[in-house]
Amino acid sequence: MIPQAFIEDIQTRTDIAEVIASYIPLKKMGRNFKGLCPFHGEKTPSFMVSPQKQIFHCFGCGEGGGVIQFLMLYEKVTFPEAIEILAQRLGVAIPYQRQEQNRMKPALYDAVQEASCFFHKNLLETKEGKFPLEYLYKRGIDIETIKKFRLGYALGRNTLIDTLRKKNFSLEALEKASLAVAKGPGGYRDVFNDRIMFPIFDARSKVIGFGGRIWKNLPDAPKYINSLEGPLYSKRDHLYGLNFAKDDVGKSDAVIVVEGYLDMIVPFSKGIHNIVASLGTALTVEQIRLIRRYTSNVVLLFDSDKAGELATLRALDLVLENDINVAIVSLPKGHDPDTLVRELGKDAFTQLLDKKTDFFEYKIAVFKRMYDIGTIEGKTKIAQEMLTTIAKLKSEIERYEYIKKLSLYLDIKEEVMLAEFRKVAVSATAANTRSEYRQAAPQPQERLSVTERVLLKFMFTNHKALAVIKRNVKESDFSSNIARKAAAYFFKQYAAGQEYSAQSVLGTIADKEVCSFVSQILMDEEIPLDKELFKSSLAKVLTRRVKTIKERMKTEIKEAEKNGDRERIRVLVNQYSRINSEGQDE
Ligand code: CTP
Ligand code: MN
Repeated sequence: MIPQAFIEDIQTRTDIAEVIASYIPLKKMGRNFKGLCPFHGEKTPSFMVSPQKQIFHCFGCGEGGGVIQFLMLYEKVTFPEAIEILAQRLGVAIPYQRQEQNRMKPALYDAVQEASCFFHKNLLETKEGKFPLEYLYKRGIDIETIKKFRLGYALGRNTLIDTLRKKNFSLEALEKASLAVAKGPGGYRDVFNDRIMFPIFDARSKVIGFGGRIWKNLPDAPKYINSLEGPLYSKRDHLYGLNFAKDDVGKSDAVIVVEGYLDMIVPFSKGIHNIVASLGTALTVEQIRLIRRYTSNVVLLFDSDKAGELATLRALDLVLENDINVAIVSLPKGHDPDTLVRELGKDAFTQLLDKKTDFFEYKIAVFKRMYDIGTIEGKTKIAQEMLTTIAKLKSEIERYEYIKKLSLYLDIKEEVMLAEFRKVAVSATAANTRSEYRQAAPQPQERLSVTERVLLKFMFTNHKALAVIKRNVKESDFSSNIARKAAAYFFKQYAAGQEYSAQSVLGTIADKEVCSFVSQILMDEEIPLDKELFKSSLAKVLTRRVKTIKERMKTEIKEAEKNGDRERIRVLVNQYSRINSEGQDE
């Protein structure tokens, strides 16, 4: 938790033009600076920085925001990390407001770090570690890989607790770090006993938890024991191996996602470096968001068994919904990435990757096995399933192409398929707007009238105007989704009369889409901040609202007339004339 006042303070002490100029060349152009946008390829500059407003905006790709958003995009960091960078630049420390749970966090990081070193040493240097080490060798893992991934061995029998207690870690910390578990009153024991240890690192290479694998043949024991979810480790937020893979993921602009620790480690050690593991879960939205910092191309490499298939299907929709290109590689029966790369070598593995299918071919193949394509019910089911996924695609053209493909495939007329698609798409878009991790829409203000843009610009810059707007205008008066979202944000965030600047506003918006939208409006020199224009815009919006209401009522009255519902007609006509006279008052 970083105090809001501190965020505002470091922003006012930072010059956005100076920060951005330290990353990319900028040229002075009147009051603004201009440069080549670092977020999309371009030859003529459309990336603008305003030192007055302390914002940037690219008119080419639509990215925009304040200095914090620039750092988030450019350095691929989170909001708090961007603030850390700014604070460091100014040489000040962040006055963190530690939540109860967070107060112990540094100690927990230390504990798991120490534990990983202790386990690693056990594996390499003790006589108990000899057999587990041999097990790893037998599975084709060499000593360099063991060191790189800091694999270890947990002896158990409270050796870890004893060691860390001597280093002054409290039992409470060990329990919170999921290294010790309470056993009866006052007693604790090691969580990991006689297991090969895989430290789980976060993207910045800090240890956050462990997976422990049995190495002897013990039929009743679970194959893996993993750290419990706690202040450091939560499964859905991390991808195993990302810290090692991230550079190559960025360079190759693609990431291979597998399921298990060894499925990641073994191919990595054979030279496949852009690979991460989801740790036995279907991909989560959080993991997808993490991936999106580095690439928008994902190759799913899951087992071809039933569970793997379901995991893949679930991942497909989620990935497409977040505007990521996805390809699927089916593994030969009985293989996982680990055995495959070991038995066939790196080249065969890469060849297999080249044989990837797109989501369409994959999904239809799965459903053809589940339903009988020869029956009407089968066809209907397959069509609906496929259309649900197609609806997640962001590109209109792609959607149309896949609908065409599907109609050919199922031998159903294109018009019929399109009609069916519209039905499916209605519910799908409703779900889509709920996903908060979509990329910023490039030109969200196109559909907005000048009137709306004037009101928005006033809303974003002038606290007195906001108060007036708040009293008279509703979110629903804006004609685009993103404008409604931005308006809702301002209505909620700013109490009447509370002063703010473009800078402080952009520093508080976490939603990327809203942020680029606000910066775009702010940067648009064609929208003048003119008081008269403001008044007339406000009036226009109100008139328009009354007009819409009146039109809606007219249809309702017609409807009631058709049904001969006299009572309803009476009520509606009364309302209608009341609105009419009110409208004339204005
Ligand atoms: N997993 C788990 N608990 C289990 C089994 C699996 O947490 N009892 C998770 C682990 O993260 C594991 C992943 O699911 O890495 C994939 O499982 P699996 O394919 O069974 O294991 P592998 O890692 O491939 O291990 P191995 O090849 O040694 O069998
Ligand atoms: Mn395996």
